[in-house]
Amino acid sequence: MSSILITGGAGFIGTNSVLHWRKLQPLDRIVVLDALTYAGNRSNLDALAVDPAFTFVHGDICDGGLLKGLFERYDFQRVVHFAAESHVDRSIVSSEAFVRTNVLGTHALLEAARTAWRASPEGRRFHHISTDEVYGSLGPDDAPFTETTRYDPKSPYAASKAGSDFLARSYAHTYGLPVTISNCSNNYGPYQFPEKLVPLVILNALMGKPLPIYGDGMNVRDWLHVEDHCAAIALVVEKGRDGETYNIGGGQEMPNIELVGLLCDTIDARIVADPALATKFKDCPASNGRRCRDLMTFVPDRPGHDRRYAICADKLFNELGFRARISLADGMARTVDWYIGGEAWWQPIQSGAYRDWMKQQYGTAH
Ligand code: NAD
Ligand code: DAU
Repeated sequence: MSSILITGGAGFIGTNSVLHWRKLQPLDRIVVLDALTYAGNRSNLDALAVDPAFTFVHGDICDGGLLKGLFERYDFQRVVHFAAESHVDRSIVSSEAFVRTNVLGTHALLEAARTAWRASPEGRRFHHISTDEVYGSLGPDDAPFTETTRYDPKSPYAASKAGSDFLARSYAHTYGLPVTISNCSNNYGPYQFPEKLVPLVILNALMGKPLPIYGDGMNVRDWLHVEDHCAAIALVVEKGRDGETYNIGGGQEMPNIELVGLLCDTIDARIVADPALATKFKDCPASNGRRCRDLMTFVPDRPGHDRRYAICADKLFNELGFRARISLADGMARTVDWYIGGEAWWQPIQSGAYRDWMKQQYGTAH
């Protein structure tokens, strides 16, 4: 039996990853450390509440004393580090929490691992989760990002993630800490906080609210279903080489406006096919003989908005044999279905502090 620390395990990708890891490793001791910020949700992990080998710790990755105690108590073989402030728009409004958690928090975690593993680093793994945003922005004809693309972060969020990546690399190089890093493209799927484009569009469409499209809607993202991301992470954690970086992506690029259109059409089809949904979501245009696309609303652009991201994931395929399996159309349809059926999850979020934040930032456009 092995022991794994998963930070940020109550957030979007962290939750999916904890559930994935439990399926892969039924006997591992899983310890989740999460500060339960606005983006964390303890109840995401309710399925593990009676699991004797699961422990949830409500705490902050910046707390060195807490980390020391956890490393001593559980003697982790694996650390998978998701905890972060993750939303670009919030980093533009205020970046302090991003520097604190993403840079200082990652440093505290690296220090705790270095200290605890100094005598026996063999067979251990510190996996740091990063993003394609550290590479900057691509033009329409540029080749996708590879692992050797020069870092060029453009938002405070991306800069803070770049800082954390450099710290992780430096700990591998200087101290021989068994670090791997993965840089992934845009994820979507269950449990994603509704401030991000995909769930925001789905929920707003269901409620008949405007679908805000930044700028001209032609910014391109490379979409990956979160299940594919979790499978790739597990592979890198188990089989990746110490000190290496692996890009993870779906090779499924799409301009935002097309993606929003795809989501709208999927919702329309679901509602037309099921009269019970039309009764449930009575403000959705599709419930009233109209189309969700009618809700698309162009709004002022995000400052410094990166134009295009695209990932070259050849290294992951060539070394570890991984390729994303879930197509964009299938993954988005599954995600629409999850949110349609997941009101118990998203309703409390929609009516809490998040609603006030959205109103304060964007007035009624969101
Ligand atoms: P999220 O915002 O949904 O979740 C972040 C989690 O971290 C939350 O549960 C939150 O409570 C926790 N957290 C925040 N600050 C903390 C602190 N100081 N101590 C302990 N816990 C803390 O984020 P996500 O979208 O799941 O992203 C997870 C990781 O993946 C991040 O590192 C992000 O940079 C990276 N990433 C995300 C995407 C994406 O598309 N969402 C893509 C590539 C990489
Ligand atoms: O690329 C990986 C990154 O993907 C992760 O590192 C980040 O944590 C994650 O939040 C995500 O960043 P983005 O900024 O790409 O995701 P977001 O969902 O915020 O926006 C996706 C695109 O949609 C982007 O071009 C901005 C646009 N957008 C977003 C929102 C919230 C809109 O047009 N309207 C919106 O309301």
